[in-house]
Amino acid sequence: MNLKEAVAVVTGGASGIGETVATYFASNGARVVIGDVVQESIDRVVGEITAAGGRVVGLKTDVTKDADVAALMDAAVSTFGAINVVVPCAGIIRDGVMINTDRETGKVKRVMETDQFRAVVEVNLVGSFITLREAARRMVDNNWRGVLFTISSVNKVGQVGQINYSSTKAAVAIWPRILAGEFQMKGIKGIRVVSVAPGYVGTPMVRGMNQDALNEILKDVHIGRLIEPEEIARAIAMVVENEAFDGTCLEITGGVTYGARSIAK
Ligand SMILES: NC(=O)c1ccc[n+]([C@@H]2O[C@H](COP(=O)([O-])OP(=O)(O)OC[C@H]3O[C@@H](n4cnc5c(N)ncnc54)[C@H](O)[C@@H]3O)[C@@H](O)[C@H]2O)c1
Repeated sequence: MNLKEAVAVVTGGASGIGETVATYFASNGARVVIGDVVQESIDRVVGEITAAGGRVVGLKTDVTKDADVAALMDAAVSTFGAINVVVPCAGIIRDGVMINTDRETGKVKRVMETDQFRAVVEVNLVGSFITLREAARRMVDNNWRGVLFTISSVNKVGQVGQINYSSTKAAVAIWPRILAGEFQMKGIKGIRVVSVAPGYVGTPMVRGMNQDALNEILKDVHIGRLIEPEEIARAIAMVVENEAFDGTCLEITGGVTYGARSIAK
């Protein structure tokens, strides 16, 4: 599938990776639909893409709400006549350890509250489920071909301090196997399912981190720098244009080599 033929729905499209995917797709001829919770950021991104000659609409969408996501998909269909590519970039982090102890007494000082766990699951996991389901039901009924993505992370391997986030990213990484299998079982041939698992990407969130912590992280990255959001967008575009990618999770990490330094010592 060529980007020029595609209608792409991008959630979390008003910032970071989602914004770059939306902009890259639009600049390569795709028609783009952006959903996000921040209206003024949606307006900014839609304005910038439109000013550059791209075709785009944006709709305030909370991916945890079925009705919002259904309205986003309906907007794609009513504006551009189809849905072909779905990139659910809406995501949040609420980092912390499950049990935090007092340095002096060794006793439990704080725990990760259930709401802190649940909030991340709601957006990253339930939100991705609703997004893919609402897109897929319309694509199947109308015989629209395309690709459903999930956005995993290198932290799917289990990052300390991220029991909530890593759990969601491990889960969405296995969805391509499940959904490509279900589509195969049902004779649905035209819809591929692919996960992308980025490493550390230079989005505002990551660039705004404590610089010492960031420099420490980069020591474990073989290319020695943050990945540019456009490198993720180009990888997603490559998957759209190459039908051989299906039912799999593609890691784009810049060579994250946890442990290599300690072994070398
Ligand atoms: N930045 C990285 O290094 C990195 C690495 C691996 C994976 N990821 C994943 O990529 C995705 C995007 O990350 P990012 O760094 O661009 O973050 P970001 O914070 O820049 O963008 C996330 C967007 O999601 C939106 N959002 C949050 N909750 C929402 C909701 N309920 N409904 C709709 N939109 C909502 C936010 O408003 C924001 O615009 C996330 O799923 C993240 O886990 C990021």
